[in-house]
Amino acid sequence: MPQSNPAVAAHSKSIKIVVVGAGSVGVTTAYALLLSGLAAEIVLIDIDKNRALGEVIDMSHAAHFAQARVRVGEYEDCAGATAVVVTAGVNQKPGQTRLDLIKTNYKVFKSIIPQIAANAPDTILLIATNPVDVLTHAAHRLSGFPVERVIGSGTAMDTTRFRHELGKHFGVNPRNVHAVIIGEHGDSQLPVWSLASIAGMRLKDYASQKGIEYSQDAMDECAKRTRDAAYEIIKKKGKTNYGVASVLVNILKPIITNGDALVTVSRVGTYGGVEDVALSMPCKLNRNGAHQDVPLLLNETEREALRRSAESIREVLDQLEQ
Ligand code: LAC
Repeated sequence: MPQSNPAVAAHSKSIKIVVVGAGSVGVTTAYALLLSGLAAEIVLIDIDKNRALGEVIDMSHAAHFAQARVRVGEYEDCAGATAVVVTAGVNQKPGQTRLDLIKTNYKVFKSIIPQIAANAPDTILLIATNPVDVLTHAAHRLSGFPVERVIGSGTAMDTTRFRHELGKHFGVNPRNVHAVIIGEHGDSQLPVWSLASIAGMRLKDYASQKGIEYSQDAMDECAKRTRDAAYEIIKKKGKTNYGVASVLVNILKPIITNGDALVTVSRVGTYGGVEDVALSMPCKLNRNGAHQDVPLLLNETEREALRRSAESIREVLDQLEQ
């Protein structure tokens, strides 16, 4: 059977993905996954069963254009899932930081993570709820899963936005911009300028070859627009959903297809010398989860910024566990 078509692969392996949370991120992710053909079955779980049913009935009218079944489920339905995407919780209101959500969303996690783990002890948890780094660490503790199987969407979202901003500045497709954001999916994130490149050239060399303006101010503006994107979108439409849903499907793809793709996702580890904290670095993603075997050669400024990012998350975690 040709494996190139994800839908064929999904059916041949009867891939089941569960999405917990029928809010805008959860349902947009379920819909994007439905259209991707990566999963044979998508199960939507929400405390508001009526809302989940309404979303599933609506989505089922798209299912015949796609190659997947979509249905409402309970935590028992996590059994046998390749991955469980956790989007449940409240999202940022205008002016709120992601860290402001921790009290409410940690309570949600204390209720749902043990239920997922009890029904699907071998699954991979993909955390999207904010503050995603703190909650990735919390999900690792609450589930008892090994760190490789508890993945946060983290700065995969910010790296996507960063490549989009740099692509606009340099006039190239974002796929041709090799640049990452690491650290916190939040205000202390950091761009790795020292390793950024286009067509194998450092940004300033590419710019001079092409006669494009290159200044640290212009680059800092790209990084600022990346970091503030969610605040801007939330000010205008009250939430974000399309970007993060596509990022979540892009994280699921190498997990489902065992693709060994390098993606900046959040995972518990040691960063900038700070132990036992979840932050984003490029990880290799496959059917066994997220593997931290991409040792970025950061410069001194970047190492210091990563340490500060790790300390800010560590502080929140210490208060959480009191
Ligand atoms: C954002 C949310 C997912 O950055 O944190 O859009």
